[in-house]
Amino acid sequence: MTLLLDVRNLHTWYGASQALFGVNLSINEGQVVSLMGRNGMGKSTVVKSIFGMMKTTKGSIKFQNQELLGQPSYKIARCGLGLVPEGRRAFGNLTVSENLHAASTNGPWNEKSIHHLFPRLGERTSQLSSTLSGGEQQMLVIARALMTNPYLLILDEATEGLAPTIRQEIWTAIGELKRQGISILVIDKTLKELIRISDHCVILERGANVWAGNPSDINENISKRYLGV
Ligand SMILES: Nc1ncnc2c1ncn2[C@@H]1O[C@H](COP(=O)(O)OP(=O)(O)OP(=O)(O)O)[C@@H](O)[C@H]1O
Ligand SMILES: [Mg+2]
Repeated sequence: MTLLLDVRNLHTWYGASQALFGVNLSINEGQVVSLMGRNGMGKSTVVKSIFGMMKTTKGSIKFQNQELLGQPSYKIARCGLGLVPEGRRAFGNLTVSENLHAASTNGPWNEKSIHHLFPRLGERTSQLSSTLSGGEQQMLVIARALMTNPYLLILDEATEGLAPTIRQEIWTAIGELKRQGISILVIDKTLKELIRISDHCVILERGANVWAGNPSDINENISKRYLGV
């Protein structure tokens, strides 16, 4: 197994307020790892730290053996990390097709493979993205991240606030990405789907690791204690 991402002893601050207290997180090539924890426990802060969006950080974030900490976001994205950030982004004055082309790089992902993964986007190629439904916009955000042909896809709450049928379509697509061997870091509120798709789970509490293991080992005790379900 080849180590893809290795976050070691990560400390992060928002101004004077410390949010992460020595987080560890590693992902092997081809693995789907879920980062779990209740609201405000630091999941998105880990993601923002990986992408160089946090000003004050300490520790180490190695991606394919390269140190990312201290590098600007645009350079980090070029290393092969694809981000679907928390909260949807619309790209209003571009069509679906233009959005995809704007993100396109050399590699297996192109409009055709995107349409195969998300048939809804294939039906709306010339539609302005501002007129898409929330779920379709979310699919477009995922599709844009894939068009950069990332080695690691990071999904921060990709199904939040969406109708059940759309959520299901997105989970089906994530399952398909997993079958294709794409490495994924996933954050989500739906425990059932996370357990189904993950190879490994890491739980945070107040900005620190409190549990890690196989999804099948998340029993009622653990989920009540750390996940509040
Ligand atoms: N912009 C900010 N300024 C100051 N503190 C922040 C900011 N964003 C987050 N925090 C704090 O950092 C801590 C971790 O927040 P974070 O957003 O990483 O949590 P999360 O696990 O992603 O939560 P959620 O499940 O609600 O998305 C929280 O205590 C939060 O209040
Ligand atoms: Mg979050």
